[in-house]
Amino acid sequence: MTDTVVLPSADALTEDDIDPTLDLVAEIGRLRKERNAVILAHYYQDGEIQDLADFVGDSLDLSRKAAATSADVIVFCGVRFMGEVAKILSPGKTVLIPDAEAGCSLEEACRADAFRHFRAKHPDHIAVTYINCSAEVKALSDVIVTSSNAEAIVRQLPADRPILFAPDRHLGAYVARKTGREMTLWPGSCIIHEQFSERELVKLKVRHPAAKVAAHPECPDAILAHADHVGSTRNILDFVLASDAPEFIIATEPHIIHQMEKAAPHKTFIAAPGADGSCNCASCPFMAKNTLEKIYLCLRNDAPRIEIPEDLRLAAVKPLERMLEMSRSVPMSKGRPDAA
Ligand code: 13P
Repeated sequence: MTDTVVLPSADALTEDDIDPTLDLVAEIGRLRKERNAVILAHYYQDGEIQDLADFVGDSLDLSRKAAATSADVIVFCGVRFMGEVAKILSPGKTVLIPDAEAGCSLEEACRADAFRHFRAKHPDHIAVTYINCSAEVKALSDVIVTSSNAEAIVRQLPADRPILFAPDRHLGAYVARKTGREMTLWPGSCIIHEQFSERELVKLKVRHPAAKVAAHPECPDAILAHADHVGSTRNILDFVLASDAPEFIIATEPHIIHQMEKAAPHKTFIAAPGADGSCNCASCPFMAKNTLEKIYLCLRNDAPRIEIPEDLRLAAVKPLERMLEMSRSVPMSKGRPDAA
């Protein structure tokens, strides 16, 4: 992990150095201008971070934005692999992340050595890899996918070639069902989407008969079986805004509800429940590591900064560029429904 991230130097400012009366939003705005920085945020970030970002999106749109920006500095508010993608696609930019420890359970579940072995055991297979993985695993893959383009990309692969899919077995199984392609799945999953309880979801649906269920394809099949709509975060957002239904149960990380409530305040959004029946089970602890304080500090300290050895970057950029090329049919979103 640390070989792709540069941590702050010993004399860097820390949270203890921040004057508690400082207007952090104003200071971040000043530093953003001074450094010609763009702030990109995933929908799973805290509402206050989404509100100050220049662009909020899902993994595909954030990758496209990072590849196309004219800013000198990209501050990536998400998890570490997202910052790595930005640096791989835009090597000339400085890429900062607020917290170098913001990992991902899917990335952890798929170590490069084990993945290399998996590939070697299936030499005739095309390796389709979910973007939630390390730069090393990307470098060993044929094409990268996100939840919004996985189906479209798999449909473009030669019909006579078998497919390996890593590391999310639920997304892989969902895409296999949708496309009818046989896939050998890596046994990984997201700790957040594993939390939802089918039993509690059914009880909630009985209490809210008019509610539509929208779920992310990282959810297990038992949850997807109850969904009226399955899609990436951006796709779920588009669905709830276009639907006439008054109420929605949202089976993904609940911070996306921030954008839903802003864009459709007359609709009701309920986070899908976990086994204890509460709706607080699915907050991502990695995404939650980012704070306004850390965004301010990363701009001040110029760290944590993503640095990737050039040989690794050159290997990882190929399957990522293939993904962007094969995603042309997936339109780019405005980022925030309230954006101009
Ligand atoms: P999307 O951004 O493609 O919806 O995926 C969510 C996710 O897993 C982020 O880590």
